[in-house]
Amino acid sequence: MDLKASKTEQNLHKVFEHEMRAYFEYMHAAEAASDAGLALVADMFYQTARNEAEHAEHAFTLLGVSGDIKATVRQAIEHEEEATAFYQETADVAEKEGFDKIAALFRRIGKGEENHKIKFTELLHSLDQGTPVEGRTVRHSALTMAQLMLPAQANPAGFVHGGELMKLMDNAAGVTAGRHSNSYVVTAQVNDIRFLQPVRVGALVLVYAKITFVGRTSMEIQIEVETEDLSNGQRTKALTSYYTMVAVDDEGQPKQVPPLIVYTEEEEKLFNEGMQRYNARKTAQAKA
Ligand SMILES: [Fe+2]
Ligand SMILES: [Fe+2]
Repeated sequence: MDLKASKTEQNLHKVFEHEMRAYFEYMHAAEAASDAGLALVADMFYQTARNEAEHAEHAFTLLGVSGDIKATVRQAIEHEEEATAFYQETADVAEKEGFDKIAALFRRIGKGEENHKIKFTELLHSLDQGTPVEGRTVRHSALTMAQLMLPAQANPAGFVHGGELMKLMDNAAGVTAGRHSNSYVVTAQVNDIRFLQPVRVGALVLVYAKITFVGRTSMEIQIEVETEDLSNGQRTKALTSYYTMVAVDDEGQPKQVPPLIVYTEEEEKLFNEGMQRYNARKTAQAKA
């Protein structure tokens, strides 16, 4: 029997919806448990969620995923167009019914969908032309580095030197900027460095780095440092900072970097904040 128009095909669609719903519920539960400090509960929900996503993927694969990239992008553009219209309509309804907050949310999501459509349209254009897509995502260069703190990195009281932590942060910022720009980079500025908690010898230090803003030749990297106490698994935020790195060519001259493509609301917020810092710096330099 052909799967098309069979009862089993309908069931595969149901499986996909149920499993994706379970995935989101469990991811949400995992985050709530993590916030409440229940690490094992969070892990169990997280891993179950991953398994539900695998279930969904099996069903999705059986329903037939197109291997043709251009056809997939065309379909995505259609979906995003439909989604944009859907959110406009639902926002109007919510407004009429007096749910102003929900209406505002629908409008915000609708703007996001429209943005997806624009990006996919640009992608299709570059695929048609055979030209590479301009720019890179935040995800492309984001990274986590881990290092155990040893006695040589600390003072006699067992506290890790601030300079050791800054070196780690500088390394992470350098790798992120290098990944985004595929070039040598130098540190131009360190902003807003905050030592929130002292770090002790024997702690595992986790450095999270992600690009927030891109100028012509400079890149701003947000760094967050957490320490993990290996005796109980407890994590504490220890430091945060913003590093500005500049891409340079073989002669050490500043070099243009690819634009940053932002997707999520958080990425957009960080981008705008980064741009404000960038503009403030340019204004201060012009006055000096
Ligand atoms: Fe499942
Ligand atoms: Fe979308």
